[in-house]
Amino acid sequence: MAVSPVGREIDRVDGRKKVTGQATYAADHKFENLAYAYVVTSTVPRGRIKEMDISAALGAPGVLDVYNPDKANNRNLGLTMPSMTPPLGHVENYPPLEDWEIRYRGQAIAVVVAETFEQARDAAGLITTTYETTPARLSMEDNSPGVPASIPGFPPFSFTKLAPGVASIDAALAASEVVIESSFHQPVQHHVAMEPHAAVVTWEGKERVTIYTGSQSPVAAQLLLAGRLGLPPANTRIVCTYTGGGFGSRVMSWNDAILAAGAARKLGRPVKLVMAREQVFTMVGHRGHVNQTVKLGASRSGVLTVVSHDCDAERPAVGGWPLLPAREVSDSLYKTPNLHVAQRFVELDMPPTWAMRGPNEAPGAFAIETAMDELAVATGVDPVELRLRNYATVGPEDGRPWSSKHLDECYRVGARRFGWSARRAKPRSRVEGEWLVGMGMATAIYPVARQAASARVELLRDDTAAVASGTSDMGTGSLTVLAIVGADSLGIPVRKVTPSVGDSALPPGATAAASGATQSTVPAIQDAAAAVIEELKKLAVSESKSPWHGADPKSLTYRDGKLSGGGRSMTFGRLLSTVGRSSVQATVNVQHDPEIVGRYSWHSFGAHFCEVRVNRFTGEPRVARWTTVVDVGRVVNAQTARSQLIGGVIWGIGHGLLEENRLEVATGRLAASNMADYMVPVNADIPEIDVHWLDRPDPQIGGLGARGLGELGTVGAAAAIGNAVFNATGIRVHETPITLDKLLQ
Ligand code: MOS
Repeated sequence: MAVSPVGREIDRVDGRKKVTGQATYAADHKFENLAYAYVVTSTVPRGRIKEMDISAALGAPGVLDVYNPDKANNRNLGLTMPSMTPPLGHVENYPPLEDWEIRYRGQAIAVVVAETFEQARDAAGLITTTYETTPARLSMEDNSPGVPASIPGFPPFSFTKLAPGVASIDAALAASEVVIESSFHQPVQHHVAMEPHAAVVTWEGKERVTIYTGSQSPVAAQLLLAGRLGLPPANTRIVCTYTGGGFGSRVMSWNDAILAAGAARKLGRPVKLVMAREQVFTMVGHRGHVNQTVKLGASRSGVLTVVSHDCDAERPAVGGWPLLPAREVSDSLYKTPNLHVAQRFVELDMPPTWAMRGPNEAPGAFAIETAMDELAVATGVDPVELRLRNYATVGPEDGRPWSSKHLDECYRVGARRFGWSARRAKPRSRVEGEWLVGMGMATAIYPVARQAASARVELLRDDTAAVASGTSDMGTGSLTVLAIVGADSLGIPVRKVTPSVGDSALPPGATAAASGATQSTVPAIQDAAAAVIEELKKLAVSESKSPWHGADPKSLTYRDGKLSGGGRSMTFGRLLSTVGRSSVQATVNVQHDPEIVGRYSWHSFGAHFCEVRVNRFTGEPRVARWTTVVDVGRVVNAQTARSQLIGGVIWGIGHGLLEENRLEVATGRLAASNMADYMVPVNADIPEIDVHWLDRPDPQIGGLGARGLGELGTVGAAAAIGNAVFNATGIRVHETPITLDKLLQ
């Protein structure tokens, strides 16, 4: 029996291409006669364009044309509104460049196309625009309290569960021995994927288009872009072989692809459009402002009597992904007789919001896991022990059993690996030179989101196999997962499998979002492999040149790349050559079983432990040590799983200490528009990160027992940092990022 590659350290199959610069990202695609587009954006947050003077731009060197909302002069691109049904329900709710209205500062208002990028950019600078402005709604506070969540696809979200005889959450709090009430604020954050959003577009006539653009979902990009262009999806091909990061920002396509496609159609030439980094900060959705209030009631020994979590999240008038931070965190974390989670939105004239890595879970966990640390302080119970005392053995919201849960083991193993027992509960009790040293911990939780997915497995006469699924690899390693699972299912070496993802022409695959690509794709590959083995057997008995011609297919066995029966054995490649076939293939679509989905509560879990040092004189916080232990079911590739988890923790360090984009309320301008002003962690900010997973395949999920892990590592990480900061300094910060000005005393 071949040794299974599942769970081992497998190099990325595309690693060499990536590090040698041979991987072709969107903007690397070259075509003859390629024209370059540059977007012009609005400089006011709300109003109408009164006048736009494009004459100087039209006369500038190399300029081919300028497009804008001027329908009278046929300058618009004829873009349309797609149906807003899922998965498109949250895209911007107007077609770009089809009217003169300004909905946010940084909105696309014109596109210049020229022979070179520099000519297009220079000409864009020659366009002058005047506006009639309308007062813009930009402040969360001025526009609160907002409206309840009732956005299509997201049920109105206010859930309250009360113990028998309890009149209200307030009554339950009033009856609690210990009460914690804290309010949290989180500013705008951005995905800041390394590859700026970009597209290269070629048309065949006006009816068929191929769009090269980074995407987390060829399926969703195809639907959206076909909808914007008024084309059937089948005529709209998306190629995203390589995608330079997404973190949510490429779940849906934005104006890079939409405007490039519109301009290429109108101009009759291939067009490349790369957003300037500054434009990525507005035209691509961001994680919005979120204000949260958590109230905990407990006994003196720290047993929870109430968990209450309310959120107000920014909701741009243009639409965008709604952020629901209470959901999936506070309703799923702890055992409590009284539970309340509610979500409201504050409508603002902001650029669209969008899901960002652990979209709800990361901000939600910062709130509740900070409040839990405050409860630990108030009751004098150790933070790990407090969480074990309130351990939920069934889903807290509806009492369903977990599909599989070993979070208690994560706490214990993590505490041991990290050396938690050396922590002193009293703040400021460890000082090393200039540094106050503290330890903190927090829980990670992320829901399981398996999607329907298709995969194709093809056996070839050179004894290799091709495994394809139209999912995406934005750097997560899903391409390598296809190779591993294909090899495991067929019993052949990983190097004999050629995987493909990132193309809407492939069988429709899972969206690489909600940490769902691997768990959704594995069963599809396994089933397609089983199906192709059946096809191989059929061929073996039906082809006259086959040694098994006329035999019963049930008399044949397949193992490790070979078909055997009647005392003979042959590799699949040899059989294909013998019968004169180049290949045999099978495509399978795997759907959920709603009965099984409904039977359990599905989550991945983890525990973070960290040491933070805060400078006594400058307030500077530095993360010094980190351990994360997770329960994610079966790990498919140890190498990329570790990278994903470490990457998640690094995101958490960014969330906890660095990331924020302040909004200038007077102008609607987001203050940071580049990677110098918008701070993400660099190597110097990151210590050695110890990640460890419990090897406990989920017995209910099928496939290999693999659940998601991509976003889990970031959930709770910012709270662990804040809790360590408190342990170091005695200062509790309820607002991210925890910057040094908040720690000076
Ligand atoms: Mo993710 S924020 O589900 O792409």
